[in-house]
Amino acid sequence: MSSPSMAASLTLPSTKPVAKRSSIALSAIPEMSESASSAGLWRVAVEVPAALAAAVEAVLGPHVETMAVMEISGGTATALAPSATTPMVVEGFTQRQPDRLVIEAGLAGAMTSGAPPVLRIEDHGERDWLAENRASFPAIDVGRFHIRGSHLGAPPPPGRTVLRVDAAAAFGSGSHATTAGCLAMLARLALGRRRRRVLDMGTGTGILALAAARLWPAARLWAVDNDADAVAMTARNRRRNAVGRRLTPVHWAGYRHPVLVGAGPFDLIVANILARPLIDMAPDLAAHLAPGGRAVLSGLLVHQERGVLLAHRRVGLVPVARRHVDGWSTLLLAHVKKRRPEGRRWKSVGNNLP
Ligand SMILES: C[S@@+](CC[C@H](N)C(=O)[O-])C[C@H]1O[C@@H](n2cnc3c(N)ncnc32)[C@H](O)[C@@H]1O
Repeated sequence: MSSPSMAASLTLPSTKPVAKRSSIALSAIPEMSESASSAGLWRVAVEVPAALAAAVEAVLGPHVETMAVMEISGGTATALAPSATTPMVVEGFTQRQPDRLVIEAGLAGAMTSGAPPVLRIEDHGERDWLAENRASFPAIDVGRFHIRGSHLGAPPPPGRTVLRVDAAAAFGSGSHATTAGCLAMLARLALGRRRRRVLDMGTGTGILALAAARLWPAARLWAVDNDADAVAMTARNRRRNAVGRRLTPVHWAGYRHPVLVGAGPFDLIVANILARPLIDMAPDLAAHLAPGGRAVLSGLLVHQERGVLLAHRRVGLVPVARRHVDGWSTLLLAHVKKRRPEGRRWKSVGNNLP
């Protein structure tokens, strides 16, 4: 079962931004069937400290069709990696009436100590939630890009770079500041030289790879994600945008997949993940980036910039530009070429494949 976009699966706590409670997560629902769009809908929710969220998730899983784990407080964006005591809500939605007794028994069995947490079941009644959900995903404009879901009928406005992106459980609708920051950096890069081999690390819906495909029509693209649902969504969005075989979705964690080693070095890598994985993956990024290539990084908060820059400087990448939106930072880095001591030839720094 997949978590809605912007929600954190606690099995990968350091890799996905955590949704705030205010963003009630119905975004997985467009994947349910059209015919069932006006069926009943129940919300099943349990509030627990983060340490217990995975256990509760496992209990609720078989009883719901879509599930999310979200931080409860309005908290600041710094709560990206919840501590064990951070209050979380594990919530799911189902079209079948949930069996309270069975779920409560499951919760009681899952607790190693203390009383089982309170189970809330809300009947959301017969609503055309598909129509409601679609209405809550209007087309959005980010710089030169016009991003629209496949549910929108009217033709897109002329003169814009159109991206047809469905998100469902994957991250990357275009509305998040980190995605918008990357799109702006890509548009800026498109004013310069052409990119031929582009890698999107942590592709989500594939939105950044698709944007690159539009900006550089001759480029080949590789879009990597460690989440199988995201890779499937990228493949679907590839079809919707008629990008074809120019874009290769890859289900993998990080850079060390034979396909990527064979496809590289890339002249552009874009990675919108989070600060910690960006830092950890800096040597691999440098190893796959061609000399003179560019990297667009996002998913880091402004106060995390120093650490991310330092990790990349160490492997030969220097800052070229940055953009701050809503406390998030997007960086443009260049892979420098260094003169050899004898001063004759150029060589890349940190560009040895593992
Ligand atoms: C914040 S989302 C970015 C999605 C999209 N690129 C965007 O800009 O909107 C990060 C994505 O990276 C993926 N991810 C996290 N760690 C990863 C790793 N080590 N290797 C590959 N993908 C990873 C997550 O599954 C998620 O889809």
